[in-house]
Amino acid sequence: MKPAPILAAGGALVAVAALAALASLAQDAGPEPAEELAFLGEPVTAEQLRLGQDVYAANCAACHGADLEGQPDWRRRLEDGRAPAPPHDESGHTWHHSDRNLFTITKLGIGAIVPGYASDMPAFGDVLSDAEIAAALAYIKSTWPARQRGFQAEVTANDEGEL
Ligand code: HEC
Repeated sequence: MKPAPILAAGGALVAVAALAALASLAQDAGPEPAEELAFLGEPVTAEQLRLGQDVYAANCAACHGADLEGQPDWRRRLEDGRAPAPPHDESGHTWHHSDRNLFTITKLGIGAIVPGYASDMPAFGDVLSDAEIAAALAYIKSTWPARQRGFQAEVTANDEGEL
């Protein structure tokens, strides 16, 4: 079995390359690389991310924070029992939800997912187009590190509900 060492070396090289790719993914803080990201099954484009960043700044940042950091002390309920706006970065739980649920929450409000639930999260269906909502959510997703992206991709793949 003479070729074995060469094959093993080749395998090690591939492994090293994969590790390097993972490491560079983990270091990416900004909204990229677009081609690895999908929203509702569609690849996310750089143009979409630019639109999403603008939509986010104009419509979401006031509550969810300019840096997606959420409202101060966001884990503590407000006096009226409602929840403050959570962060959309990896410290929050936006990445626990499938693409479909994120889209529905943003378009129709949390009540569309949890009927009767009182929330300060507005429904944006009358304010933003579907494309703008998708772009804002794609932008949010683009800021997540590899672990959160991977988790959320799995949740999305396992979500078989109807839009
Ligand atoms: C007026 C304040 C406000 C604005 C503006 C706002 N949100 Fe929210 N959002 C909230 C609050 C408060 C919650 C938490 C709701 C709850 O749990 O009751 C929330 C929750 C969410 C959630 C669910 C997060 C989770 O982990 O459960 C998503 C997704 C979301 N918002 C997306 C958006 C997007 C996208 C925009 C902009 C298009 C936006 N929000 C604008 C207040 C706001």
